[in-house]
Amino acid sequence: MQSQRQVILCPIEDIDPEHGREVQVEVSGRSEGLALFRLGERVVAYRNICPHQGRALSWAPGEFLCEPDGSLVCPHHGARFELVTGRCIAGPCAGSSLSEVTIRLENGMVWLES
Ligand code: FES
Repeated sequence: MQSQRQVILCPIEDIDPEHGREVQVEVSGRSEGLALFRLGERVVAYRNICPHQGRALSWAPGEFLCEPDGSLVCPHHGARFELVTGRCIAGPCAGSSLSEVTIRLENGMVWLES
C-alpha cells in the first residue's frame, strides 16, 4: 500500500493564481477532491467540502469563486472563507473552518502529507 507521504498532487505552476485548482486523491479507497490555492509563494489545500452543508466548494468541476480580497465564496449559499486561514468570515456557517490538508512544496511540486 502506497503511503500518502509519497503523493505528488501537481506542479505549483498548474494552480491557477486567481481561481485555484482541484485535484483528486484516493483516501481509504475512495476519490476525494482537494482544493489548492496559491497565495503568493505559498500554497494552501483544503478538502473540497463546505462546512455548511457538506457540498463541494467548486461551482463547476475544478472551478472556484475566488475574490480579489483573498476569499473563496461557496457557490451554494454564499459562505465566504478567508483563503489564508480557511475560516468562514461571512455567511451561513460563519466561524466554522474549511478542513485543511497538510501539503509541502518541493522542487516546484505540491506534495500531499498524511
Ligand atoms: S453549502 Fe456552502 S454555503 Fe451552504
